[in-house]
Amino acid sequence: MSETTKRSTGQHQVKRDSFTSSLGMMAATLGSAVGLGNIWKFPSMTGTNGGATFLFVYLACTIVVGLPVMISEIMLGRTVKANAITTFNKLSPKKQPWGLVGVAGVVAAFLILCFYTEVAGWVFAYIFKGISGSILTTDPKVASDMFGQLISNPLMSLVWQWIVLVLISFIVTFGVSKGIEKVTTKLMPILFCLLVIVGIRSMTLPGASEGLKFLFAPDFSKISGTVILMAMGLAFFKLSIGMGTMMTYGSYCRDDQNVPMTATKVMLADLMVSLLAGIAIFPAVFAYGFDVTAGPSLLFVTIPAVFASMPFGYLFAIIFFVLAAIASTGAMLSLFEVPVAYLSETKQMSRKGAVITTALGIVILGAPAALSHSLTADVTIFGKTFFDLFDFLSSNIFMPAGGLCICIFTGWVFGKDRIREQLSNIGKLNNGGIISLFTVLVKYVSPILVALVLLNMLNVF
Ligand code: PHE
Repeated sequence: MSETTKRSTGQHQVKRDSFTSSLGMMAATLGSAVGLGNIWKFPSMTGTNGGATFLFVYLACTIVVGLPVMISEIMLGRTVKANAITTFNKLSPKKQPWGLVGVAGVVAAFLILCFYTEVAGWVFAYIFKGISGSILTTDPKVASDMFGQLISNPLMSLVWQWIVLVLISFIVTFGVSKGIEKVTTKLMPILFCLLVIVGIRSMTLPGASEGLKFLFAPDFSKISGTVILMAMGLAFFKLSIGMGTMMTYGSYCRDDQNVPMTATKVMLADLMVSLLAGIAIFPAVFAYGFDVTAGPSLLFVTIPAVFASMPFGYLFAIIFFVLAAIASTGAMLSLFEVPVAYLSETKQMSRKGAVITTALGIVILGAPAALSHSLTADVTIFGKTFFDLFDFLSSNIFMPAGGLCICIFTGWVFGKDRIREQLSNIGKLNNGGIISLFTVLVKYVSPILVALVLLNMLNVF
């Protein structure tokens, strides 16, 4: 048997790293879920898609589709204890091309990293701009020009992306337990504390209640096909599912961990962070009369302007961007781990070699995305810049399609007997009811819903 298969079958586990505790697994998984999705995407999408109505649809997608896919991924990964592609290859019946779902996952990880590292770069840049005080202006026009200057400068765009890549590569090189787990267990509690501080500040502003109403009082007439598609895409993006991240993390999960419980806790905690981010942002935006529908620039234009208007804004602006930087770091670590695990387990590469290869790949592929607001701004494919295209392809096509395949694979190929065995930890856990509910969801409900949304997007009906 070759070295490659020895590694990937798990028979001869060549020093395969894993999370050292349940808490470590929770921190890393939550670190993956919580990210710019909560702070950048969730508020801007909620703002532009009708507030509470969007929140309601997003919530439904998260529970009915997101959670089952997440449980499936962690379970499948833990069963095989290998990277996403090997996991599918090992579990797939002969001559069935399920390995392609894993391949699509690795491709999606690259696509996401291309634009994600760029936005993270802006966040890191804003910490320094915050410290220098230069972003604190109450005039949204000036704030907008400041942001425009940063993103339209090709050199700065690339340099910030590279700085982020070096940081993430450095942490991932240390491995799963000594790198990812160690860093995320420290960062997650800090993130929660900072978020609560900013949330309290925002809610105690005069006029904050308008913002809360916007976030929590739905108007169901606003639900449309597009709203559902966007909400489902966000649910996938938020939970880091449909592209092998949770599968890869699941492969480092201990056999005695309660998978449905862990996934549910991560889903709830992630939701809480999104709500807290909404609570930190919307009341303040309303209190100072800014535009909630600013979209992606909400984070970099509206928020600094909002902070500049409030007492102690200088400090809160810095805290806010540090918080966003922490959140993005946990997510990027998990994105990196998908190709790194694959390359190091199947391509005879050392971990360091796999990390460098991945980082170089992002330097090359990510450049067009990073330059989308400067040199490549005029290059559009399907009317989208590289940045928007990578974002759209990953969130709205790769991840839902991957999630659909994962549901079908889990429900119909992996099958209910193995589901029962795995989710009960071979009979050690007494969660029969949850397993039955999960099996029905993953076999019928979730795949049908995702398929409907995808077909709707392709204008089939
Ligand atoms: N969940 C992360 C966020 O919300 C993004 C992400 C997507 C991370 C896919 C890993 C995989 O920012």
